[in-house]
Amino acid sequence: MRTLFRKVLQMALLGGGALLLSAATRPTTWHWDIPSWAPAPVVPSDNPMRAEKVALGRRLFYDKRLSENGTLACASCHLQKLGFASGVPTHVGAHGEPGLRTPMPLANVAYLPSYTWANPQLTTLEKQMLIPMFSDQPVELGMGGQEKALFARLSDDPCYARLFRVAFPEAKGAITLSTVTKAIASFERTLLSFDSPYDHSLHGDKTALSPAAQRGEALFFGEKLECSHCHNGLNLTDNIRAANMPFPETGFHNTGLYNEDGKGAYPASDHGLRTVTGNAEDEGKFRTESLRNVALTGPYMHDGSIATLHDVLAAHYSKGGRSATGPHGENPLRDQFIEPFDISEAEIADVIAFLNSLTDQSFITNPAFSDPGKTCPLALPSASPSGKGAQ
Ligand code: HEC
Ligand code: HEC
Repeated sequence: MRTLFRKVLQMALLGGGALLLSAATRPTTWHWDIPSWAPAPVVPSDNPMRAEKVALGRRLFYDKRLSENGTLACASCHLQKLGFASGVPTHVGAHGEPGLRTPMPLANVAYLPSYTWANPQLTTLEKQMLIPMFSDQPVELGMGGQEKALFARLSDDPCYARLFRVAFPEAKGAITLSTVTKAIASFERTLLSFDSPYDHSLHGDKTALSPAAQRGEALFFGEKLECSHCHNGLNLTDNIRAANMPFPETGFHNTGLYNEDGKGAYPASDHGLRTVTGNAEDEGKFRTESLRNVALTGPYMHDGSIATLHDVLAAHYSKGGRSATGPHGENPLRDQFIEPFDISEAEIADVIAFLNSLTDQSFITNPAFSDPGKTCPLALPSASPSGKGAQ
């Protein structure tokens, strides 16, 4: 029975089902589909998880009507098969303007205390998304000043009118900035990745990692490379917030990628954390990136300026920061854990084998995260598809 129920729900989520339940009237309990060892994500109290919101958010995430001229969706820069990264250093916006930074992967974004490469003030997904939608520096979806046009466009679609009604009965299905952003954020919180070989090796199956990956793991967590000073914990980053934690942890560091003037300056186009705080010591600091699915999320770093994982090690970290080999030498503002180390090609291959073990095939092929297509789901589920561990 349970299996059948799941199947039916999955079909409904896939957009093909003319099935089931009068959703709006049922009380909903959300169950996270996560392993028992993973803590639950934090959810803002004004946007509790509901399957109807997730289904609506998924449709919006893939909908190009969210851009001013119908050319871009969130999913244009965040591709599931690449762990929701983009595969390009920067992605042009709806008006063809070049982007400034690399679009980020979205696996486990629900666990982040702040969003984007270097902004501790953007603490919710609901707030973050206002940037791609409305910002003009650079233009991404290009909807700045056109909120009304966007909501009218969505209201014209009878499918959305119905989806918003079942997702937001308390708002009587109103299509507003609040309901649009809450729905997309709810979908983003379901983008959970805990099924990589590395997860299996940590939680029981010691055979999940190849001998090369195991050697790479030892190097990664060892004293020579020091990677795990910053890349640690649930998502291999020192930025985490979870329901079982009293305080979030945040980590912004200068890794010595640039040194434009001998005093540690980054290029004028992007000073990282300093742009937000105004503090000189924050020059070149960026948020430690999660390494989940990292084999798929290149090119690497905030500006996509390192093409391969090999170069992340060979041309950047092993030199004590890439700038060390440039005209102005080592960046004096770089983090104390960024120091040169000797590494052989065989050891680099082992570290890469370890990083490859962070790829979660079921995450990048999960049908619940894919483009739901144009078909309007005629009924929506009132509970999440599956799961252990209640919110
Ligand atoms: C034109 C490409 C583009 C589009 C379209 C786009 N994004 Fe992004 N996304 C980016 C870039 C670039 C960044 C990094 C921004 C920064 O650091 O300033 C990013 C960062 C993010 C992050 C932060 C992830 C993290 O780890 O902190 C989230 C979440 C996100 N985008 C969600 C969305 C959503 C939702 C939409 C649609 C409403 C969207 N994006 C549309 C390019 C895009
Ligand atoms: C001092 C903290 C720190 C240490 C030590 C560190 N990293 Fe990082 N890592 C970061 C930060 C911060 C970024 C983002 C930097 C940027 O974009 O400018 C990053 C980015 C990365 C990226 C790119 C991720 C992406 O999606 O673009 C990879 C890969 C990576 N680190 C691997 C490693 C490895 C391997 C080591 C050990 C050799 C290591 N890191 C050591 C802080 C650190």
